[in-house]
Amino acid sequence: MAIEQIKIGYDNFCYVIYCPIHKKAAIVDPGFDAIKSLRFISANDFILEYIILTHYHNDHSAETKYLKKVAPSSKIVASKEDGKKLPIKPEIFVCDKSQLKVGNILLSFLLTPGHTPGGICIIVDEKAILTGDTLFIGDCGRTDLLGGNLAQMYASLHEKIMALPDELVVYPGHNYDKKPFDSLGNQKRTNKTLKAKTLKEFSTIP
Ligand SMILES: [Fe+2]
Repeated sequence: MAIEQIKIGYDNFCYVIYCPIHKKAAIVDPGFDAIKSLRFISANDFILEYIILTHYHNDHSAETKYLKKVAPSSKIVASKEDGKKLPIKPEIFVCDKSQLKVGNILLSFLLTPGHTPGGICIIVDEKAILTGDTLFIGDCGRTDLLGGNLAQMYASLHEKIMALPDELVVYPGHNYDKKPFDSLGNQKRTNKTLKAKTLKEFSTIP
């Protein structure tokens, strides 16, 4: 899998998605310690093409400006809804079903509001999904912060994430479980937020 999972800050994950053939890379959610992902990129002689933000929260985006300064040709990618809340303007706005290529690696985007109005998930080569603060291993993102919406989160999880193949590997935005990643099939069977059958049931999950 052409994905490097990097622990940053207190319990956040940042990701580098890369194409080893074309030597291109994208960084996802550089909230802290951007130097860690830059080190991985330079050790492999990759070119940073995209800085992708799953949502606008500071712990996922704070080092975007620094990365843009280090790699001025890279393009910042976010949804329209969350992109306008960032301190630095994205060059590429993605919506549901948008696609981008990092060398040979295909990125497909899903708009998954609920934690924020413009949260996105990124499907990588139909093998993995980076879920930001939409889906964690064993839980989902908070809906009680500014711009959060419980009904939207339920719809994002149950209409979009649940419809995806079990074989996808889920890479979350935070390290909240013993496992740093898991198959979507196992999460469908065990994650209380995906097991809820109705919005009412979902709304009573502690
Ligand atoms: Fe967040």
